[in-house]
Amino acid sequence: MAFPESFLQELKLRNDITELVSSYITLKRRGRNMVGLCPFHGEKTPSFNIYTENGSFYCFGCGVGGDVITFVMKMENLDYVDAVKFLAQRAGMDMPEDSYDDSMSRLRTRIYEANREAARYYYKILNSPDGKSGLDYFHGRMLTDRTIRHFGLGFADDDWSSLCDYLIGKGFSKNELVAANLAVRQRNGKGVYDRFRNRVMFPIIDLRGNVIAFGGRIMTDEKPKYLNTSDTPVFKKSDNLFSLNNAKNTGSRTLILCEGYMDVIAVNQAGFQNAVATLGTALTKEQAMLIKRYADEVVICYDSDEAGQKATARAIPILRSAGLLIRILTLPSGKDPDEFIKSKGADGPEAFRALIEKSGNDVEYRLQKLRSNYNLNTPDGRVRFLEEAAKVIAAIYSPIEREVYISKLCKEFEISKDSFQRQVNSITRRKNREDRRNEVRKIQNDLSGRGDRLDTEHVKKPRSSSAEEALIAYLIKNPDSVGYINERLEPERFQNELMKRYYSYFSDRISQGLDPLNNLTADFSEDERSRVYKILSKHSTIAETRSALDEYIKTINEESRKLNKKDLSNMTAEEIQEYLNSGM
Ligand code: CTP
Ligand code: MN
Repeated sequence: MAFPESFLQELKLRNDITELVSSYITLKRRGRNMVGLCPFHGEKTPSFNIYTENGSFYCFGCGVGGDVITFVMKMENLDYVDAVKFLAQRAGMDMPEDSYDDSMSRLRTRIYEANREAARYYYKILNSPDGKSGLDYFHGRMLTDRTIRHFGLGFADDDWSSLCDYLIGKGFSKNELVAANLAVRQRNGKGVYDRFRNRVMFPIIDLRGNVIAFGGRIMTDEKPKYLNTSDTPVFKKSDNLFSLNNAKNTGSRTLILCEGYMDVIAVNQAGFQNAVATLGTALTKEQAMLIKRYADEVVICYDSDEAGQKATARAIPILRSAGLLIRILTLPSGKDPDEFIKSKGADGPEAFRALIEKSGNDVEYRLQKLRSNYNLNTPDGRVRFLEEAAKVIAAIYSPIEREVYISKLCKEFEISKDSFQRQVNSITRRKNREDRRNEVRKIQNDLSGRGDRLDTEHVKKPRSSSAEEALIAYLIKNPDSVGYINERLEPERFQNELMKRYYSYFSDRISQGLDPLNNLTADFSEDERSRVYKILSKHSTIAETRSALDEYIKTINEESRKLNKKDLSNMTAEEIQEYLNSGM
């Protein structure tokens, strides 16, 4: 079951890719196409291309490509059917009835509903006699009722089935509860029981306001301290941030990044709504890209213990390469933000604000760490410190920012600005050369097919594979050539299995009068779909003439006759005859 072709056609027509993408990122015109910084990976030079002629995009940096639907799937974190619904709504179109398989979409909807009901239930219990221990716990941690309501905090009581009973009574099936990870299946496979028991509960809410998961904290020193929803069809912990739904509405382009739920909540209560936290994992580049959509600057506010410092050091390059400015807040030793704010009593909010204002950027932080590695009282220690400091400064993107640090250090160490500047410049130049070389090498490597896991045959048979690829690009861009090509080229001639599949598929669709790219999702995997757009992208600037096409066909036919000796043993008599006749 798939969407009707005419519906998809209209959907794409009414959702212009340039217009849609511009609502997320800034695009610049380059020739006939548009380019911008890829929203799916961090980069400094734009390699995200939009091809207006066929409504597609492709990023040379991360290899993701597709049409408007693919873009919405990635950007809004939706599955295919929901992305189509999203675009239909955007364009004011009705969804076709019953023509598509939306079982996954329905399950996701049910999980959202179950989570919402569960959050309501946990909240209700917290505020009932059964939840007294939970409410006492939160009050003991200085949370106000207003904060508890704002975050929708709750309590899972100490019972094996109270949530399950409640939700089953509301019409949810056991399967749905297990899929939502609210329930766990019993070992005998029959019954289910509550996943969260005797824990205070923190709902995790996505940017559209759906409850997607929970964190549950035990109120004693038992382990595990926090239990979180495992990954489900609506939740991937490495792609989400706690409280981003609140933080994105503050109008501030700065986010405060904490380690835990309680830190975010305490920081909120102190008056800073722009706080978020990762969900029990180290910061990922997906989370950094998500932050970049709502902020330009991040204040890292991790615990002052060694683990927190390590996590800070690891987060800096991830945030930097997502294009974010970074400041680092230093807490007194042994404290996390929640404990710090609490320790200051009524002055907590002011004291925290002062820390934020005092927080230096990551360069200052790194220079500070460096200082402690050298004995600055000796000339040798000073030289070695300055050499390392030059490397830190050379890595700064903004020339003005570099200048500021150079001046500062020169004054402090009473050295001439000229020589230090030269040192920094030479590192910067070398680094830029290396970066550019690496970027080019990566793209070249990628285009050559080396290390290609999807298409392992390209490197082995580069001549035929290149011709096969070029032919497929030609066919998609010139659908009316299908008859001409089919007459001269049989699918069996293709040596590359992936290209052979593309060739048969696109020939078929075009012969049926269908738009070749309209419905790739039904027949190809995500990577295989991206690959189609990569091929189109690669050939977008190449002039497509009939004589070029004839050359591709000739090469493919020629190459298919070239078989090496080893293969002779597997040939039929007929094939051997053909082989001998071909004179190879
Ligand atoms: N975490 C987790 N599972 C654990 C421990 C921690 O998922 N067993 C995650 C939680 O998201 C938690 C964060 O890591 O919020 C930080 O952990 P930690 O510093 O140990 O907890 P705090 O946030 O200080 O929590 P609390 O103040 O309640 O002790
Ligand atoms: Mn804590």
